[in-house]
Amino acid sequence: MERATQYELRLAERMSRLGTETAFEVLNKARALERQGKQIIHLEIGEPDFNTPENIVEAGIEGLRKGWTHYGPSAGLPELRQAIAEYVSRTRAVKVSCDEVVVVPGGKPIIFFAMLSLIDPGDEVIYPNPGFPIYESMIRYLDGRAVPIRLREERDFSLDVSELASLITDQTKLIILNSPQNPTGGVLNRREIHDISEAIGDRNILVLSDEIYSRLIFDGEHYSIMSVPGFKDRTILLDGFSKTYAMTGWRMGYGVMRADLATQITRLMTNSNSCTASFTQIAGIEAIRGDQSSVEHMRNEFQRRRDLFVAGLNRVKGFSCRMPKGAFYVFPNITKTGWKSKKLADALLEEAGVACLSGTAFGDFGEGYLRFSVANSLENLNKALEHIDSWTKRNL
Ligand SMILES: Cc1ncc(COP(=O)(O)O)c(C=O)c1O
Repeated sequence: MERATQYELRLAERMSRLGTETAFEVLNKARALERQGKQIIHLEIGEPDFNTPENIVEAGIEGLRKGWTHYGPSAGLPELRQAIAEYVSRTRAVKVSCDEVVVVPGGKPIIFFAMLSLIDPGDEVIYPNPGFPIYESMIRYLDGRAVPIRLREERDFSLDVSELASLITDQTKLIILNSPQNPTGGVLNRREIHDISEAIGDRNILVLSDEIYSRLIFDGEHYSIMSVPGFKDRTILLDGFSKTYAMTGWRMGYGVMRADLATQITRLMTNSNSCTASFTQIAGIEAIRGDQSSVEHMRNEFQRRRDLFVAGLNRVKGFSCRMPKGAFYVFPNITKTGWKSKKLADALLEEAGVACLSGTAFGDFGEGYLRFSVANSLENLNKALEHIDSWTKRNL
């Protein structure tokens, strides 16, 4: 409840340009319906339904017991930065050193801090649409010029490189790539990444490469633009622990970038969070260096669920759904239902008890689609399919 006061709230003008992540709003709405006694199947929020693997939890508890309860260095604990540098060097085939790594509370702060340190009013930022809504929110917040590149279903939601080339201008400061992609599950393959790097050429443009789903690929392999010769210094790699190790609530992620930019992002950390929680980082060392079998287990489970859910959606009247290659989202085309995305998402929540997101929560080019997260049990996914199917039979 907002308090009545005689004093007008004089917000900074930039707050009117800040966007949001609709998943949290839909979650709140779904919870309110549950409080009224309705049963809801939650396919709206983008987080693994698994618990954090036991070895990581134990390392965190041990960290607390050993007194990792104090401030640490703003850029992260040296041992974790070293573990990340080794991991990224190995997986992206580049040589990364500790001073190029900044540990932050989640993947999101890398988006926030990278843009805060780079974008001046009027600077152009090219970003995927439909795409993770925080990109556009941050561009607008900083008064940058938001230049969407449309991801097209007929290209399996990868981007058209000639279209990208046509959007690059002298004002382009940053290009955002996200693979595997939220919300479409699209994956940029090695050839596409090379084509993108050729379109950028030797221009002084930075690439924010959001690779938070890098370990969740079902078909093909993960490939980073950071691996392309000449691009290491122009790439800000975002990765983290939330999705790979089911650690969304621990709040820990990292950026890998040229050391001079890492220093600037570290200054932003000092000014905002001071540091990422120390015992969390101790658990992070175990996550990266310890047993990886839980990662493989979760990936296999997501793949089974994806297969089941996509096949089920393709049997629903008016729905057609491509097989996503990565992440844990499916993004069916619903234009043949004759309904607008937002209206359909609302109806499915209120009348079918299935919470999902409208494609438009990811930008204007998301119209005609819905996003379902398959981070839920096979039983619940089957139930959701039944509910959606019977709702469409009644209403279409
Ligand atoms: C594409 C993308 N980037 C970044 C994030 C943020 O992850 P974190 O929870 O680690 O901040 C998400 C989370 O949904 C995401 O989908």
